[in-house]
Order: sequence, then C-alpha cells, then structure tokens
Amino acid sequence: MLEEPTAHAIDPLSGAMSGASGRYEKKLSDLVGLYADSALFEAREKSHGQDVVYQVDEKRPSQAAGDLIFGTTWMQPGRIGDEFFMTRGHIHARGNRPETYYGESGTGVMLLESPEGEIRTLEIQPRLMVYVPPLWIHRSVNTGATPLVMSFCYPSDSGQNYDIIARSDGMACRVVADGTGWKTIPNASYRARSKDEIAAVYATCD
Ligand SMILES: [Fe+2]
Repeated sequence: MLEEPTAHAIDPLSGAMSGASGRYEKKLSDLVGLYADSALFEAREKSHGQDVVYQVDEKRPSQAAGDLIFGTTWMQPGRIGDEFFMTRGHIHARGNRPETYYGESGTGVMLLESPEGEIRTLEIQPRLMVYVPPLWIHRSVNTGATPLVMSFCYPSDSGQNYDIIARSDGMACRVVADGTGWKTIPNASYRARSKDEIAAVYATCD
C-alpha cells in the first residue's frame, strides 16, 4: 500500500514540527558522564536536573529499509564550566548510514570522529546544510547564546549506537568556550579504540 505524502511545518525558533509522530527529550540528569567537570555537573544536576537540555520532534513514516526518518532537534544554550551543552552523540548502528542536518536558528558545532579517532568540526548556522558521512560518530554542540535548532534526515534503518562514545570515555575532543567563541581541546580521559574495536565498527556496514 502506498504511503500518503505529507508536508510538515517547522518553527525555526522552537523546533516544533507539525505532523511529528514522536517527541523525546533529554534532561540534564540524563546526561551524566558527558562533561569533564563531573563535580560541577553534579552540583548543577541537584538544582537543574529536570531542565530539558535538548528535545527531538521526529517523523518515522515506516520501518522499511530505504525509507527516511526526519525531524528537528532543539537544544538550549548553556555550559558546564567551559564546556558547551551537547547531545549524547552516536554512530549509526549500521555504520554506513549518513545523515544531514540543516541549521534553522542559533549557532553551534557538529563534532565528528572517525572510528580511528580523527576529529572534524563543522560550524552550524541558519540555512547551512551539514552532511555527516557514513561511519562518523556525531554530536551537536550549542556554542551560541540562544537555542540551537536544526532539522535532520537519515535512513530509517540506521539505528543509533551510543555505547561507542561511552566505551572511549567520550569523544577525542571537547568543545569549550574560548573568549566569545569556541575551540576544541583534547579529552583527557579519552581511550582510543583498539584495532578489533575499529574492525567491529566497519563490520556493521552492509
Ligand atoms: Fe545520527
């Protein structure tokens, strides 16, 4: 049976998308272990643990391979110490699935890491399309003073693997404040993936 075509209005400031089939949110208390300054995080969590750091509106028309998942992500501005608010980040469970992100409002950085630990950063701003190629771990970071809103699209059979970041104790670099801007610094607790772990990532491609 044919899927019915649909159109979805996106509010660039709130990220609300009409006709979304799902919404999920991450509160500060869901983001334990992401930030370098864990003591500062714990203190903030006590008073602001229920604050929503980011939320996603999405539409999943079907589970069929070849279909798409699309939607919006909204992330509030803020920092834990020098480190900007960020998403948990992931690699796609089927590693060779790509994704696009389009800036709706606010400014930020897409932090990308290859299985071998190479880092790339791409600035996000309104009307800029960011392409996340297959096999890159990706996380978005709000480096601005206002919410960062993006729309995204990726294959419906991608899946998300969050453990890859947890197993390495984060991504290889952190995005921190630098005057009025941002910079990357090495993540002191990062553990590089072994050859076997890297091979396991490539083995998820089909
Ligand atoms: Fe993704």
